[in-house]
Amino acid sequence: MSKTYIIGNWKLNPETIKKAESLVRGIIAKVSSSRTKEIAIASPFPFLSMMKTVADKKISLGAQDVSMYDDGAHTGDVSAMMLKSMGVKYCIVGHSERRADGETNEMVAIKVRKLLDEKIMPIICVGESDRDTAGNYRDILAEQVRISCAKITPKEADSFFIAYEPVWAIGEKAKRGAHPDECLEATVIIRRELANIVKDTKKATNAVILYGGSSSQETAPEFLRVGGVQGFLLGRLSLDAKSFSSFISSL
Ligand code: PGA
Repeated sequence: MSKTYIIGNWKLNPETIKKAESLVRGIIAKVSSSRTKEIAIASPFPFLSMMKTVADKKISLGAQDVSMYDDGAHTGDVSAMMLKSMGVKYCIVGHSERRADGETNEMVAIKVRKLLDEKIMPIICVGESDRDTAGNYRDILAEQVRISCAKITPKEADSFFIAYEPVWAIGEKAKRGAHPDECLEATVIIRRELANIVKDTKKATNAVILYGGSSSQETAPEFLRVGGVQGFLLGRLSLDAKSFSSFISSL
């Protein structure tokens, strides 16, 4: 049976390490371990050490960004090697909230390479800002995948995840989440681009794609069934132990 991936993205939350610890302890107490579900939390950098101590086998450690550099004069940066030494298994790159702050596809490609070199699984976020009727979003999505994944080698076909996160579906301002058929269309575009990158259609078909953007317990099983994805990147829902665990149990 294939695995389902549920990755929480805490973003700039919670406010303090005390709250972060209580949240992660709450999550651990509520989720049951399962061989068919992989659960991870991408926490802010300052909480990683605590997360490493508190998290048990049920939860893997994630980060939300990484530096393009290995070391040197880059104030405020955190390198892939530093993340590796903290036990980080997954790292989000190219989230739309970072892209809105100026992160380009080319920068994402460099970050992906740094993570792959440290054997950290990059979760590469792509997604259009809006679904224009002319269908330009398809080209935008294809370009995001093409450039952001340009430094991945065919041998690394199973060493990264893509997260399809349509910007219009993310966060509190979103009017709605995507429909599974909209998600499926996006995954077809993503897999077509991936086939060129990993030079293998079968491997591209098997690549793990997550959906993110106002995911809910009600619609999630349908996404897994017909949306072309193997899991979810969850924002708001991962900030409440009860909601996060009941989302996981619903799958
Ligand atoms: P949301 O965020 O689940 O709160 O919509 C998803 C994300 O931005 O990763």
